Amino acid sequence: MANKIKTIGVLTSGGDAPGMNAAIRAVVRSAINRGMKVKGIMRGYAGLLQEEIVDMQSSSVSDIIHRGGTILYTARCMEFTTLEGQEKGAEICKKHGIDGMVVIGGDGSFRGAGKLSALGVNTIGIPGTIDLDIACTEYTIGFDTAVNTAMEAIDKVRDTSTSHERCSIIEVMGRHAGYIALWCGFANGAEDILLPERYDGDEQILINHIIENRKIGKKHHIIINAEGIGHSASMARRIEAATGIETRATILGHMQRGGIPTCKDRVYASIMGAKAVELLAEGKSNRVVAYKNGEYTDFDIQEALAMEKDIPEDQYDISKLLTR
Ligand code: ADP
Ligand code: F6P
Repeated sequence: MANKIKTIGVLTSGGDAPGMNAAIRAVVRSAINRGMKVKGIMRGYAGLLQEEIVDMQSSSVSDIIHRGGTILYTARCMEFTTLEGQEKGAEICKKHGIDGMVVIGGDGSFRGAGKLSALGVNTIGIPGTIDLDIACTEYTIGFDTAVNTAMEAIDKVRDTSTSHERCSIIEVMGRHAGYIALWCGFANGAEDILLPERYDGDEQILINHIIENRKIGKKHHIIINAEGIGHSASMARRIEAATGIETRATILGHMQRGGIPTCKDRVYASIMGAKAVELLAEGKSNRVVAYKNGEYTDFDIQEALAMEKDIPEDQYDISKLLTR
């Protein structure tokens, strides 16, 4: 039987995501209610290496469940990708009596969590990224809020696009993953959806589609373009030149990562936060909390990182079927 965990550290790492605060709150309160102490580590692994560590009470997480961002701040930290940095991080945990750690972030953060586990700090990951690009789980903290934020913004662009009978290219976040683009494509009734996983760069197909749609009387043409493809402004100029239809580009950018978390993000993040503490209390380490096939579960970190995920082909096919 593993030694009982006395003190848990919690940090957020990589891109922030709405709902991270709900997860922090759940980690803090469920740990305290199990008789453990909690220390908040500011600014991810960077703050760990700088020993930016604060004691947390139940009241430290009051009034945060409805706020976007992360009260612990977040950062990216090159030093922690080195063995030296990881050993320093594990030593600092030991110095502060942190024998259990909860890391809220994406795949990169989980790689760091795996290293901490290997160095003797019991560590559990919680999936937090608006991109939904973590293979072991169907839910990641922040995706639901981000797609709803993007959907509302795209509805607004659509109003003006229709009024001016224009083509609009709207760029949504997702450097490597097209989940936000696909979901907005469905939810906003886009005429074209460009995903980094699928787009082959053939603009002539897009141009033909716009011209055909105009012929059958469509008043606008909405193209959702994922950040991973990018170049929305120059694409707009080329489309306008080729079709003669006024074309504008809108890049939604970081507004998609902020704002009030949805009910789903608050609830799932809360449950995942509590599950992470439960795993530590059971003496587990090197695991990622996940949501799969309608249930909360957990995976070994290395197994989780080795899994692959792709846009479901049937969903992509349906999205194309509905554009006309
Ligand atoms: P995300 O967690 O959202 O995928 P990043 O890929 O930027 O975001 O990773 C966040 C942080 O996790 C990095 O800045 C780094 O400190 C840490 N990290 C990433 N990869 C590794 C690795 N291979 N080993 C140790 N730490 C890593
Ligand atoms: O958090 C995920 C994400 O928003 C990606 O969609 C995007 O490519 C990236 O982070 C941008 O990160 P930043 O601008 O903070 O470096």
